[in-house]
Amino acid sequence: MNWSKWIRQTHRWLSIIFSATVIANFATMAFGEPPAWVVYSPLLPLFLLLFSGLYMFVLPYVARPRGEQRAQG
Ligand code: HEM
Repeated sequence: MNWSKWIRQTHRWLSIIFSATVIANFATMAFGEPPAWVVYSPLLPLFLLLFSGLYMFVLPYVARPRGEQRAQG
């Protein structure tokens, strides 16, 4: 599996983890104030989503068109 495919898969699974942590927040809110670790748990996956997402965003702009030669020297 190449690098950008790996990033896309990671982004996809991080989105599931992120969604689960958001749902966990609403679920625990039903029982009053959620503990701080539940409140902050979406931040790590969201942070990683930001970087893997920005990477995927710039890919088409930095990719060389098919067949184009790399500049020499
Ligand atoms: C935080 C900033 C985020 C950025 C900059 C970002 C950016 C991107 C980009 C550029 C793509 C590729 C679109 C394409 O195919 O051209 C993508 C795909 C995707 N994003 Fe994000 N994203 C972010 C957060 C999220 C979040 C919060 C979720 C859901 C909870 C999410 C779920 C997905 C999914 C499921 C895909 C499709 C991945 C696949 O191809 O399987 N992203 N995102």
